[in-house]
Amino acid sequence: MLGALVFSHASRAILTRHDLQRFPADSLFDRIARVLCEAECLPRKELFESWELARRTRRRFRGGRIVDLACGHGLVAHLMLLLDDTSEVAIAADARLPASAPQVAEALVRAWPRLGQRVELRSARIQDVALAPADVVVAAHACGALTDEIITRAIDARARLAVLPCCHDKARGDAGGLEGWLDPALAIDATRAARLRAHGYRVYTQTISREISPKNRLLLAEPLQG
Ligand SMILES: C[S@@+](CC[C@H](N)C(=O)[O-])C[C@H]1O[C@@H](n2cnc3c(N)ncnc32)[C@H](O)[C@@H]1O
Repeated sequence: MLGALVFSHASRAILTRHDLQRFPADSLFDRIARVLCEAECLPRKELFESWELARRTRRRFRGGRIVDLACGHGLVAHLMLLLDDTSEVAIAADARLPASAPQVAEALVRAWPRLGQRVELRSARIQDVALAPADVVVAAHACGALTDEIITRAIDARARLAVLPCCHDKARGDAGGLEGWLDPALAIDATRAARLRAHGYRVYTQTISREISPKNRLLLAEPLQG
């Protein structure tokens, strides 16, 4: 119990070489974690959140170009390719890429050379990234209305989508009139799911562990055929 408290998966502390022994297994996750510990630049919670988002998304959505919006270090984009090599390329775009984003990419490419030249880190606003129907759009904790903009862009392109919303704007977010029954953040996410259905999407709702993030609702959606 004490160990779990000391090594919180929700911590923003940077993973370092001191953490290497916490990931001793031969599993893909532990191997990725060790590479990121060696890189010494990634907040711990990004590892756990990105992994949960990527692996759950990959269970539903194979192939396609990966578009990781508001990507931070772009870890989700890399994980999506590692988990499913049938996606040829990924774009990881953020209006303010962290200075250490290339460090994360270089460490992962060193460990998995097949990732080389396949993930484009792009300093760009989501509004400036063109989407296509074959894309799988992912966004981990795109704050508040940014998640809504990403949903709108995905709907317009008829692309598949996986978002893990955060920072719900209780004053301006669309709660769909549900706030009398549901807490405001849940009402906003339920309304997002309903909006996707209204636009001809099949919706899947999941949660990741609250120990990783209390903003843990994962919304996946794919356009219905025809
Ligand atoms: C809470 S962080 C999430 C980062 C990363 N996805 C993660 O899970 O660690 C939100 C990110 O959104 C980016 N951002 C904010 N507005 C944006 C916009 N209009 N277009 C692209 N990125 C934006 C910020 O620079 C920031 O990196």
